[in-house]
Amino acid sequence: MTNKYMYFIANWKMFGDLKTINSLDKVIKFSKSHKKNKFKLIYCPPNTLIRPISKRLSKTNIEVGAQNSHQNLDYGAFTGQVNARMLKSVGAKYVILGHSENRMAGENDNLINLKIKNSIKSGLKIIFCIGETIKQKRDKKTNQVLNSQLKKGLKSIKKINDIIIAYEPVWSIGTGLIPSSEELFKSIKFIKSKFGKKSPKVLYGGSVNSKNIDQLKIIPDIDGFLIGGASQNPKKFIDIIKKTIN
Ligand code: PGA
Repeated sequence: MTNKYMYFIANWKMFGDLKTINSLDKVIKFSKSHKKNKFKLIYCPPNTLIRPISKRLSKTNIEVGAQNSHQNLDYGAFTGQVNARMLKSVGAKYVILGHSENRMAGENDNLINLKIKNSIKSGLKIIFCIGETIKQKRDKKTNQVLNSQLKKGLKSIKKINDIIIAYEPVWSIGTGLIPSSEELFKSIKFIKSKFGKKSPKVLYGGSVNSKNIDQLKIIPDIDGFLIGGASQNPKKFIDIIKKTIN
């Protein structure tokens, strides 16, 4: 049990169609039956579901985010892309940026920095993902990588209040592996130490499930979780939340 205000962010990745939205009803019911001041739920579905999900959640405290945004502030000739202003117009309040799946697809720190700046300008809050690869971990470069991703990704950004950081070791995403309690404690502490007293919230992400949540929730200073696979199933998602807050 934790007395802290915790974030639970569902990253649906490329999952879900209009029928899937019905699965939210269980989570809505759960959320309504619990004290508002204990946790914040944010759903980040694929862009196709942002509008219908934000409508379904309109009378709840659950918020909606997107999973990426194009860096351009205005409309433009970018086939297949959607910018932050467009995401906001359909109900997104947040956007996940810097996710390792997009870094691996070619997004670098400078591009992520531009996306963060322009998404903030467009009125979105940012869920900024950072994390080391398995090789970087083995080479004992975790802190160096986190420091560099933070520095470059947040370069000249003053509105730190608009940012939530998600520490997601690349090797833990979708693998069933999680860092040891000591490793995680150190990384969260390291990230927060970069901001002094005004640190943004720092969440953990990577293979969070209802079995390992007991071990994860007790890490001091952790402000919540970014949950991929397990968030696609309402029962598993609710289990994780219940085990954390109860
Ligand atoms: P996972 O994904 O929980 O399925 O490991 C987390 C994420 O990629 O945000």
